[in-house]
Amino acid sequence: MTITTDLPAAPAARRSADLERLLARDPGAFRVLTGDRPTGALHLGHYFGTLQNRVRLQDLGVDVFVLVADYQVLTDRDVADLLTEHVEGLLLDYLAIGIDPARSTVFSHSAVPALNQLMLPFLSLVSVAELGRNPTVKDEIAHSRQAAVSGLMYTYPVHQAADILFCKGNLVPVGQDQLPHLEITRTIARRFNERYGHVFPEPDALLSAAPLLLGTDATKMSKSRGNSVTLSATADETARLIKGATTDAERRITYEPDRRPGVSSLVLLAALCLDRDPYDVAEEIGDGGSSALKRTVTEAVNARMAPIRARRAEYAQDMGYVRAVLRAGNERANAVADATLREVREAMGTPG
Ligand code: TRP
Repeated sequence: MTITTDLPAAPAARRSADLERLLARDPGAFRVLTGDRPTGALHLGHYFGTLQNRVRLQDLGVDVFVLVADYQVLTDRDVADLLTEHVEGLLLDYLAIGIDPARSTVFSHSAVPALNQLMLPFLSLVSVAELGRNPTVKDEIAHSRQAAVSGLMYTYPVHQAADILFCKGNLVPVGQDQLPHLEITRTIARRFNERYGHVFPEPDALLSAAPLLLGTDATKMSKSRGNSVTLSATADETARLIKGATTDAERRITYEPDRRPGVSSLVLLAALCLDRDPYDVAEEIGDGGSSALKRTVTEAVNARMAPIRARRAEYAQDMGYVRAVLRAGNERANAVADATLREVREAMGTPG
């Protein structure tokens, strides 16, 4: 059977609702692992889709690990460009939105050897056919600009299993596209435990009700397309980007995502920033047309982002501190990864 992208969603959504109840009751029972590839600046889609949720989980009292997935940058490109700049940008974004290094662990792939070593036994637990069936990888291969598909592109979901299982993460907040990867992680954990004895949890996906924000060109919002308002943008840059956003010729502003994707995405963005209902926001702008809509969106985004941007600018004054946050996170991640690798070696009976 081939997996279609929308079929597994219903049970996953039901499970997520149960998990939210468990989280509220016993946050200490969970360890969350999430992460981002350092390929560019984080934008409002990330903020409303995942970043806010991480801070919420952290503030609930969950132990949160945030991964700067630097090795995963190489899945769909030959070299990781501007890596230092992108990693430092991510760190600034995390700190600015409220990730607290005293409570959460921020770390990077390449600094944690024992995490990467888990990939070897894990690769032995999945078949080439299973890897080839992954719909998200297939989609990424179809859209890749690379001439050849690398071994890493094919196997990175197994690496992602190592990301999650090295710290025995049992909860992974994800969007729909990551569900196949989480399924592979669960399979690997189950097979490892069956073969060698219990070491790993089978982590759950926590689907967030991520709003579908489009880019300013009314296509998918993307780090690399220049169609998104980044957390680090200035108020002027924000205004310029929104001014150029795609709308349509109808004067009256409404919220109809299917029929009017460009206009509706702007309405939604304003609504998210204002914590309001998009239908009410559209109604209020009414016959004001695109220019009133864009004015509302620009003001809403800049007001909502102002404190985040101010904190970001403050942290940027002290990059020594920012780098120390990553160093401390890497140290903690290494201690955790070393302990897990020791357990794995014992379970597998590897001497030495
Ligand atoms: N693939 C994720 C993304 O591109 C990043 C990531 C890497 C991740 N390892 C992970 C997410 C483990 C969750 C769990 O956004």
